[in-house]
Amino acid sequence: MAEARSPVVVVVGASGGIGRALLARMEGNDRFELVVGLSRRRPEGWTDARIGGGRRRLWLPADLTVEASLAAAASRLRGLGEAHRIVVATGILHGPDLQPERTYRALSPEALARAFAINAAGPALAAKHLLPLTPRDTPSLFAALSARVGSLADNRLGGWYAYRASKTALNMLIRTLAIEHVRTRPRGVCVALHPGTVDTPLSAPFQGGVPPERLFTPERAAEALCEVMDGLTAADTGRIFAWDGQPIPW
Ligand SMILES: NC(=O)c1ccc[n+]([C@@H]2O[C@H](COP(=O)([O-])OP(=O)(O)OC[C@H]3O[C@@H](n4cnc5c(N)ncnc54)[C@H](OP(=O)(O)O)[C@@H]3O)[C@@H](O)[C@H]2O)c1
Repeated sequence: MAEARSPVVVVVGASGGIGRALLARMEGNDRFELVVGLSRRRPEGWTDARIGGGRRRLWLPADLTVEASLAAAASRLRGLGEAHRIVVATGILHGPDLQPERTYRALSPEALARAFAINAAGPALAAKHLLPLTPRDTPSLFAALSARVGSLADNRLGGWYAYRASKTALNMLIRTLAIEHVRTRPRGVCVALHPGTVDTPLSAPFQGGVPPERLFTPERAAEALCEVMDGLTAADTGRIFAWDGQPIPW
């Protein structure tokens, strides 16, 4: 298959609830010639295919904890076109070795390290390998899904130490990336985005007290996030925005 050199959108976390919905939405946006999903495993039902008008979609393997896999994906992408939009939609909140902590008595070095590895170091390493693929003279966007609970100013409830602190670290990494990135890509924007509370495996055990109107489907969240991303300008780089476009304080 001939490989086009044209605007590419990359979603890291193609297998996730929000990542998958973002990819579906980007496929409907004919601004992007090539829609690329990265994840550890090929998402169920995914086929690399034409998606109309000569546009196509492609899946590549990548594990955030294996830097060589990010380097390999970037190397493959380098030949395919410039990455006009990169969205990192990965993250963990709970798992066999990680549960949101209600008290400091539950802190575990392994859980803290795992949350930081996936939620903070992972997106930063994705940036290390993917930001060089963005265009030098035209607008581009690197967005990582963060969470409101990572806001220092917004922390009134406490708890969720590992997740919260790893998202705060992610926000700082994005801010720092933004400052450096603009030196070579004056029109390159780097932001953190809060998707709202979204009905995915990540939030499933914690949806109890969420009013139905505040629990978004992944499709609704993707729609809102795309609207926010479409409206961002160079002046917004280094900031955190919620699904409704409102800035979130540090
Ligand atoms: N859902 C919410 O209510 C909510 C609220 C605030 C913020 N967020 C943020 O939104 C983002 C997406 O969450 P989601 O709700 O869509 O969760 P999800 O459905 O659980 O998806 C999480 C994604 O992260 C990927 N991932 C985990 N570890 C990885 C690794 N080592 N390498 C590569 N990928 C890895 C998963 O891949 P596998 O399939 O391979 O495990 C999956 O694609 C996260 O950053 C989350 O913190 C979500």
